[in-house]
Amino acid sequence: MIIKVKSVFKRRFMNNTLKAAGIVCLFLFVTAQAATVKSLPGSKKISPDLFGLFIEDINYAADGGLYAELVQNRSFEYSPTEQGGWHPLSYWQYSSPGFSIGRISVETTSPINTNNPHYIVLDVEHVGHEAGYTGDSGVGIKNSGFAGMVVKAGDKYNLSLFARQLSQEPINLTVSLTSPSGNIKYAENTLTTSSQDWTKYTTELTASTSSDSATLLILATTKGKLALDVISLFPEKTFMNRPNGLRADLAQVLADMHPKFIRFPGGCLAHGDGLGNMYRWKNTIGPIETRKEQRNLWGYHQTGGLGYFEYFQFCEDIGAKPLPVLPAAVSCQNSGGTWRIGGTGQKALPIAEMQEYIQEVLDLIEWANSPVTSTWGAKRAAAGHPAPFNLEYLGIGNEDKITPEFTERFRMIYNAVKEKHPEITVIGTSGPFHSGDDFDKGWKLANELNVKIVDEHYYTEPGWFLANQRRYDSYDRKASKVYLGEYASWGNKMRNAIAEAAYMTGLERNGDVVWLASYAPLLAKKDFTQWTTDLIFFDNTQIIPTVNFYVQKMFMTNQGDCYFDNVITKDEKDTTLAASCVQDGKSGDVILKLVNAGNEPKSMQINLTGFKNIMPAAILTVLSGKADAENTFANPRTVIPEESVLKVKKNFAYITPAMSLSIIRIKTKK
Ligand code: AHR
Repeated sequence: MIIKVKSVFKRRFMNNTLKAAGIVCLFLFVTAQAATVKSLPGSKKISPDLFGLFIEDINYAADGGLYAELVQNRSFEYSPTEQGGWHPLSYWQYSSPGFSIGRISVETTSPINTNNPHYIVLDVEHVGHEAGYTGDSGVGIKNSGFAGMVVKAGDKYNLSLFARQLSQEPINLTVSLTSPSGNIKYAENTLTTSSQDWTKYTTELTASTSSDSATLLILATTKGKLALDVISLFPEKTFMNRPNGLRADLAQVLADMHPKFIRFPGGCLAHGDGLGNMYRWKNTIGPIETRKEQRNLWGYHQTGGLGYFEYFQFCEDIGAKPLPVLPAAVSCQNSGGTWRIGGTGQKALPIAEMQEYIQEVLDLIEWANSPVTSTWGAKRAAAGHPAPFNLEYLGIGNEDKITPEFTERFRMIYNAVKEKHPEITVIGTSGPFHSGDDFDKGWKLANELNVKIVDEHYYTEPGWFLANQRRYDSYDRKASKVYLGEYASWGNKMRNAIAEAAYMTGLERNGDVVWLASYAPLLAKKDFTQWTTDLIFFDNTQIIPTVNFYVQKMFMTNQGDCYFDNVITKDEKDTTLAASCVQDGKSGDVILKLVNAGNEPKSMQINLTGFKNIMPAAILTVLSGKADAENTFANPRTVIPEESVLKVKKNFAYITPAMSLSIIRIKTKK
């Protein structure tokens, strides 16, 4: 039926120009995503998922960043292996105000869960104060979060903690939000223990005053002994009010980009620093007190609180497809601190453990997609999500060194997934550079196995991006497709952002072979940054989108599913100029992207005669600025996109400003 309609359609419109091409693209998308497209001259179907995001917990992106937990080291699992001087009581302070006497110790004999071995014991000997003293009394601890907790007057904060009475009588606890000195109280509440078993207690704190430097204080006010663990404080207003959720303002910035997919959790974080440090997805689902925390290879601590469930939920909440990347059973080649030098540190899981590992990979697919009646589907449902998450893409490996050990393990995992889940699109990997030994070997392996998509990574000079805009023009259309999983030009200035924009028009032009692309890294917390070129900078209160961010957002919010050649004419020899034209099948909008990476305004000629029913009032969005302009904490809005209405005709010239990206979005009459 589809074939018949297609040929009738083709006969009637074959001789028409771009309008017909647009309809063919749209028609084929709607009716037959997988069918072979006989594209008309100048048009082709391109990936509907081209531009997405990559979230890795680097630069305190998750813990201390996107993950809304306000308490730092909530489970007393910090260790000197993560940072010199760290220990289970890091970021906590013992407190015994008034005339109170007690002791604190860290213990491991009876934890809540073996994944979470450390907890503290408070031994309260005496609680008291002098006559006339009106401050706090008690024995306890305080935590000032990630460089101070931000609270807003009138907002509610959900406190939870696990306690176990180690003495007979119930113990009263006062929990409060205070100023750093403890002199000013922003909120206070009380709890009373009721069990000699680990029990979860919750209460709500409503801030009376706004503060950027609040401290959480927990005081036992009864004589006795008790164990405490997993002391957690979340704003009630997380993104979409999800429990164990995301920082609302930061998540909203990502949601507003409208990414087509989100890759997570890394990056090098996925394959880890040595075998014991691999990101194992099963450690990151279920109640937070059962999750296995670990050293973050970027030099800090990973609670796993923002784990697989939360990533999948966030994807669903913002309409992005999830793209998890699992290790290919080998660790990062830079393991052991040999960052990108020689790549001698890769460790491989013993072959004897591979069946178990492969099962872990298959279990993820079951967890994400199978009904609640399946073992892993039931776990997803228990976490509050009975409906499947509709996993489609699955990355295996992250820019690994393509050693014989990697190849053997990748092959085993790939074959198992392909056999049991042919519906899943596996994404292979091709090393950390745009060319070279690993790149060649990764592609060779992918071609041999017929892997559908291959992940390429490269960070380089802006000049490279301008000079290589045609990189994908010559890629074999019959071979695997490309996921440009990590890329950035080194720097956050306009010259970087505009070089990336020029390159992205090349990605669109090659959207039939480049299926997915994501800039990296995404998030970086001020003063906690390990990687210097990032998309969004933030601290506890501010968010600073870079100029590169605006380029990404402008492309992401203006994606199409059909590409058209021959609409924009420019000087083809001038590599500072780039342009693309796509149509969005859903809205019918024709979208032009015009890039000028030079220091002079330059003209491009637009020919829309192939499109019927063009509406004259188009939306023009322009990002332009001096080559070395950038957005910083001191000057966050040096360059921001500006929107206006542009009257368009069938044929018109557009003058691209110096160092600019212009997007013209043209409505078509339905
Ligand atoms: O994006 C930062 C790092 O760069 C990623 O973790 C890694 O995959 C790449 O080398």
